[in-house]
Amino acid sequence: MTDRSESFSGSATIDVIRTARQADSSTYMRSEQLNLAAYDTDKIQNDYLEVYDPILSPWTDNDVKLLEIGVHKGGSLELWRDYFPRGTIVGIDLELPEGFIPGERIQLFKGSQADTQFLSEVAMSIAPDGFDIIIDDASHIGELTKTTFWHLFHHHLKPGGLYAIEDWGTGYLDDFPDGKRFDPKPSILDPFPCHSHGMVGFVKELVDEQCAGSITLGRDEQFRLSNLESLLITEGVVFVTKMVPSLSASPNPVPAGEGPGQTTISWKSVDGKVYVSKNGREERLFADSPRGSQQANWIEAGSTHEFRLYNADHKQLLAKVTVTRDRRIKPFVMFGRLADVLRRGTAS
Ligand SMILES: C[S@@+](CC[C@H](N)C(=O)[O-])C[C@H]1O[C@@H](n2cnc3c(N)ncnc32)[C@H](O)[C@@H]1O
Repeated sequence: MTDRSESFSGSATIDVIRTARQADSSTYMRSEQLNLAAYDTDKIQNDYLEVYDPILSPWTDNDVKLLEIGVHKGGSLELWRDYFPRGTIVGIDLELPEGFIPGERIQLFKGSQADTQFLSEVAMSIAPDGFDIIIDDASHIGELTKTTFWHLFHHHLKPGGLYAIEDWGTGYLDDFPDGKRFDPKPSILDPFPCHSHGMVGFVKELVDEQCAGSITLGRDEQFRLSNLESLLITEGVVFVTKMVPSLSASPNPVPAGEGPGQTTISWKSVDGKVYVSKNGREERLFADSPRGSQQANWIEAGSTHEFRLYNADHKQLLAKVTVTRDRRIKPFVMFGRLADVLRRGTAS
């Protein structure tokens, strides 16, 4: 088994064709605690739980809000209900399963995955702060899957949340509406349909998105990082996690001392900029790149400096941190300085 994982641009990671069997064997496998025979879902026959288990392990004990698009008989919703004992499970389908009783912690909604208004209504009623996990196991048609993905990813998936797209290999099947058997040497006379469209084309679009930082490098106005924190492509399921914007200051508070105090501001976003406001006054631009680390060497005691990370159009506040400075030197710092003076005195 080969692991062809490569890292680009520091934080962006693309794992191509890595199987779950390669995951750390110590990983907690939640599905092993369930009676899988009780659930009518092809996720089990397809061995998808082997892939899901290591990826879902950080969420299993949380109050997750999970949305699955494509319900069929409802078996996967029952599986997720038991997999996440504290979770809220939401299913969407064009046709709701007859005779299925959702019961506790499962909710069903009838509608199309391409109807973005419908998707938003469901999301706002169940998960106004966003879903933790979204699974698309519905049409497996490229254009529909793509519309659903970008709408839910941008508007209804929490930062750090997981989006799984199942069965993307349908794009390589001749009998799928937008699929086509792979031809390693397509005829120059008949190169279409090609795999730039359909499910495979959509997955390739995600690969491009993961490398947005490299694609836009050197294009000053357009430079941005990926909306994706990570992209994992397995044979059956593609997993995307959403970038988590961050902003921090170190040290904070800035230790007391003579002269202006200094802290290092570090941040990460897709296309954000950092502003600073002193003592609640009008903010000014501190840094205009989406990711970086920069010193602020004018931190005064008795003042508050609020650093704010906004998105590119300055409409959304992504993160903020208030930096202050100690007025008095802390006893252990004082002791350290005294020891330094004494040591220097003894040495000379
Ligand atoms: C593969 S089945 C889902 C299986 C289920 N997730 C499981 O694991 O047992 C696909 C489902 O997607 C639904 N579907 C197909 N096109 C859809 C669309 N445009 N919007 C919503 N659901 C759709 C179908 O009605 C079908 O029930």
